[in-house]
Amino acid sequence: MIDAKKRANGPPAAAVTEPRIPVFAPYIGVDTIKHLTDAFDIGWLGMGATTKEFEDRIAAFLELRDRYVVVTNTGTSALHIALKAAGLQPGDEVITPSFNYVADHQAIVAAGGEPVLCDIEDDSLGIDCAKAENLVGERTKAIIPLHFAGWPCDQSGVYALAARHGLRVIEDAMHGFGTRIDGRRIGSYGDIACFSFDAVKIVTAIDGGCVVVNSQEEVQALQRMRLLGVDRDTVERYKNRRAWEYDVVSDGYRYHMTNILASVGVSQIKRVEEFIASRQSVCKRYNKAFQSLPGVKVPPTSFDDISPFIYSLRVKNGCRSEFMDHMSRRGIDCGIHFVPVHKHQRFERARRGDMTVTDQVVTEVTTLPLHSFMKPEFVDRVIEGVTTFFRG
Ligand SMILES: Cc1ncc(COP(=O)(O)O)c(C=O)c1O
Repeated sequence: MIDAKKRANGPPAAAVTEPRIPVFAPYIGVDTIKHLTDAFDIGWLGMGATTKEFEDRIAAFLELRDRYVVVTNTGTSALHIALKAAGLQPGDEVITPSFNYVADHQAIVAAGGEPVLCDIEDDSLGIDCAKAENLVGERTKAIIPLHFAGWPCDQSGVYALAARHGLRVIEDAMHGFGTRIDGRRIGSYGDIACFSFDAVKIVTAIDGGCVVVNSQEEVQALQRMRLLGVDRDTVERYKNRRAWEYDVVSDGYRYHMTNILASVGVSQIKRVEEFIASRQSVCKRYNKAFQSLPGVKVPPTSFDDISPFIYSLRVKNGCRSEFMDHMSRRGIDCGIHFVPVHKHQRFERARRGDMTVTDQVVTEVTTLPLHSFMKPEFVDRVIEGVTTFFRG
């Protein structure tokens, strides 16, 4: 049933004749289908040479020097084994924003640690380093900052804090594959960085992730953990073969990426620069159209150096649901990133600091549709939908 207020704001969804605009729309071209069929033709479906090729292409794209990539079956598993490779021990604490996807908190728990939830800055929506410093205690081992939406967090502040307290840094760069900070790609320097190639990310491998580390020792530890603790086998599998004699030397999980999914990742990473450029141009159009609207806050960036995963608009004055309903009636889906983790039952008792900014921001953030090669008529409809709501 449609109430009077909704009716006043526009037609019900049934009246919309144009196609619905989803929040996410992966770009799967004929090139991806070709890579997939080629991978099936080769017939080595499990982890193999294409997995290695995907790792090499990630390293080239991120412009890595003396840093190394290990791909995994998800970004969450990448975080899990990254934490273990960083030396997390049972009972250790890891500081991360509550304004983050719960994958990070679950990965910390899976690695035997305890998440400590921190507030964020109002502008970058990244971790508030001053508040994080107040949370550092005897058991703090690591910090996981998030580059929300692909926008840089206060990365230099995070590394300075980590240096003062001897913490490992695991950057959650799931949203920022390709973002540059001072000219360098996230992940090409620093401690550990993790990326996601899940179904909605700019580069998808249907599901997938990777860890970037500084040493061969960490690479080997990650390779073992991703394959049930088995040593030696990775080298053989990268030649589409198996090692029939091996030892199991550590704990391990079944977190490897198959050739089939890696072939999707390879096809996508070949076009990543085009994907990023097309998304940047949509984000720039959105920023220009929305920046002077009353009652909104646009992303605090020109997008020139950003690889934008999502476009997050802040809707002020408590009218986000009304706005989302308005968009929905025009056949435009919007999303919410994120529900804060301290509001989830599982983590409501996790140690945490003041959450003033998070508690406000999570009532405002609204994810507008953003696709690689987004149809111009979709962009126009989103802009029209947003402007009619705020300008009337
Ligand atoms: C901020 C953040 N961290 C971690 C993850 C987990 O990545 P995956 O879905 O590849 O496991 C996601 C996934 O969306 C995410 O948004």
